[in-house]
This record gives sequence, structure tokens and C-alpha cells, in this order.
Amino acid sequence: MKNTIVVGAQWGDEGKGKLVDVLAEQSDLVVRFNGGGNAGHTVMHNGETYKFHYMPSGMLHNKTCILGTGVVINPKDLLDEIESFTSSGHSPKLKISARAHIIFPHHQLIDAKEGGKIGTTGRGIGPTYSQKASRINLRVLDIIADDAEARIKTALKDVKDMLVLEGIYSEDDYKVYCNSVAVEYAGFGEKFKPYVTDTEDLVRIASNSAQAVLFEGAQGTLLDLNYGTYPFVTSSSTLAAAAFVGGGAIPGVPIRILGITKAYTTRVGEGPFPTELEGEAATNLREAGHEYGATTGRPRRVGHLDLYALRYAIRISGIQELAMTKIDTLALVSGIKVCTAYKINGKEIDYFPADAPTLAQVEPVYTDVPAITELSKEEWLALRNASKDQLPTSIQEYIKFIEDFVEIPITILSHGPERNETIVF
Ligand code: IMP
Repeated sequence: MKNTIVVGAQWGDEGKGKLVDVLAEQSDLVVRFNGGGNAGHTVMHNGETYKFHYMPSGMLHNKTCILGTGVVINPKDLLDEIESFTSSGHSPKLKISARAHIIFPHHQLIDAKEGGKIGTTGRGIGPTYSQKASRINLRVLDIIADDAEARIKTALKDVKDMLVLEGIYSEDDYKVYCNSVAVEYAGFGEKFKPYVTDTEDLVRIASNSAQAVLFEGAQGTLLDLNYGTYPFVTSSSTLAAAAFVGGGAIPGVPIRILGITKAYTTRVGEGPFPTELEGEAATNLREAGHEYGATTGRPRRVGHLDLYALRYAIRISGIQELAMTKIDTLALVSGIKVCTAYKINGKEIDYFPADAPTLAQVEPVYTDVPAITELSKEEWLALRNASKDQLPTSIQEYIKFIEDFVEIPITILSHGPERNETIVF
């Protein structure tokens, strides 16, 4: 199969960046289709650590990388990322959709004021998508237009009342903001020009030829605006289906849908998390897995693998196979179990609750699993070409238990941040 969609199968931070980096080697185009600077991908290569918020992880393979129409972009942050990547000796082959929406400073201010309730990343994501849906926001094509300054000032007039009424700016401050941001963003537009194109056409041409396109999702399925744990979700669609809407994937062209799951569960920000660990057990797992957000540095909430939630994510996103990351971390902690059912009022349920307060109250039903065998880095690397039945028994059993429950295969196992710390079955 030439084309692949990679999506997170939990609440984000599953290790998509590393997997996309690994898969990008066999791809011609890498396309991001949702989210913005709320995403943070850490990729380690040749001892160097790269943190991407916008640029697809395929950049490290010098592949053409696309920021599709469904992405929202803070131009300053993206230009800084391009600059830092260029100054480390790389030349990004980046293409930006003319139709992608722009994040302005006022979106970040609204997010800072209102996003606390659900613990957003504060990057202005929700306000940008909501003004996109209200048809009052500007796109990349506006800031690169000859009359960009005038377009920005006009658009800002449309949101002035809302911003002044909400106390985000005083009347006087708003005037100053409009003038300065119009000049600044038109300047960013000038720098954007070489990268902007009709990205959907690039994807269409690649899909209809012998090229392989890799679609890289941001966040995770359970943070999806429609099917996630609303309202504790992000403001874009994070399902595989979003690659068609926001990335230009073509319905009917065969595509492989790969979901990424950690060997346990993490979540950043507020919202229900049925298998969350507390106290010392949480600290041990967090420290073992270095579970701190790549974008905000916030400590991640950690918990047991929730197979009940994972199966829901697989079903709604149409995930066909799984890559499991951080199996090495799980070997460092004791008392592992996996959640296989939810109970409400003592009775097992057969659906994934849509209502966040209900989900917060479910009682997870656990199955104990044997401790995962701890292997040294060398022992893991020696298993590079292993088949599943050549893995230590505890790992074989863990994989088999998960596969039987979720009814799809685990085809990739990741046991460290480097490219070669990956076993493809
Ligand atoms: P927003 O996307 O910044 O609006 O944040 C909404 C929710 O999604 C918050 O709970 C964030 O912590 C979470 N979130 C957004 N992006 C990511 C991500 O890349 N990884 C994990 N959680 C994320």
C-alpha cells in the first residue's frame, strides 16, 4: 500500500513523531492535516533531539513536507522553526496550503483567558478554528496578498467588538494592535511566499502516480472535536478521516491506517481519564517514561493501558493496525494491568460514554498482566529483525492480549526514541 495515515489512538503524545520519522523514509510526501502549534513532536536522530511543532517529522529525511488546509498556523512560530532547522544545516522542502488558517495574537489571548477550563496548550487553537467556522478569519493566501495589510485591518475590525467587550483589549490598545499586527503579519506573508502553493494538487498528483504519501495526524483520536471526550478535546478532527478533509487524501485511493498507542496511557490537560494512576505509582511511571509535554512542559497524567477506550478509538478512526510505543518504559514499573471493561453502578456497559461526567465516573475493570521483561538497549537492538514469537514471553503475551481484545494486529513495536529502536513485524 503506497499511502498511509498515521493517527494517535489515545489522548495524544503516543509517539507519532518518531513513527512518522521512521515511515517517512519510504514516503515521497509527508502531509500534516490538522492542529497547529499545540502539537509537539520530539524526534531523536544521530544523538540530536529535534522538536517540531509545525513541520512534519519527515523533514529529517529531506522529503517534501506539506502543511495542509486543515492546519492552523502561527506564522511567527513556523518561521522560527524553519529558521532553527535551516541554521542546523538542513534545507526544509516545505509546502504550505494557501487555504490554511492563520493564528493571530488575539486568538492566543482569548485562549489564555478561556482555555484554562479544559487545560488547553494556550496556542490559540480553539479561537482560530472557531473564527474559521464563523467565516471571519484570515488564511495564508490573505497574508501573502499584495493588499495583505488592508485585508488584516478589515478582518480585525470584524472581531473588534467581541475583543473589546470581553476586555481583551481597550479601544485604544486595539487600534495600536491592529496597525502593528497588520504590518507584522504582512511581513510574515512575504517570507511565506516561497512555500505557499495549492498543496491539495501536489497530494492529488502524488496519489495518482507511483508516489507514496504519508499523512501525519496531530493529537489523538480521543481528543477529536466530534468523537473525543468533549468538551475536553482539541478543536480539530483528529481521526484518520480528517486526512481526507484537511490533507487532500483522495477517497477511493487505497490507504493504510496505522494507529499509535503507548504501552500505557497518558493525557495532558483536564478531562476524564478512567485508568489514571495517582501518588507514587503515577510518579514512578511518569519519571520512567519522561512524561512531560513537548509543547508546554506540563507533567502528563499517566495511567494503565485502557483497552476499552483504545478499542473505541480504533473503531471510530477505522484504524487497521497498531504501532505500540514505550514498551521499554513499562518494563520499569510494577503492578501492570490493563482495563478491559467499564462499569457504571456495578454493571458492565457496552458503549464508550459520550458524556464527560459519565466517563469520569466509570469504574474500570482490570485484568492483571505479567511484568514486562526488562531488556538492555543492546538486548533490544539484537531483536531488531525478530518476529513476535522470538520476543521475551511476557512481551509476546502482552501483545497477544491486546491484539485479541482490539481485534487488529500490532505491526510495529517501539522501545526507545531512536529510529533503530523499532521492530517492524
Ligand atoms: P488545545 O488543542 O490547545 O486547544 O487543547 C485542548 C486539549 O487538547 C487540552 O487538553 C490539551 O492538553 C490537549 N492537546 C492539544 N494538543 C495536544 C498534543 O499534541 N498532545 C497532547 N494533548 C494535546
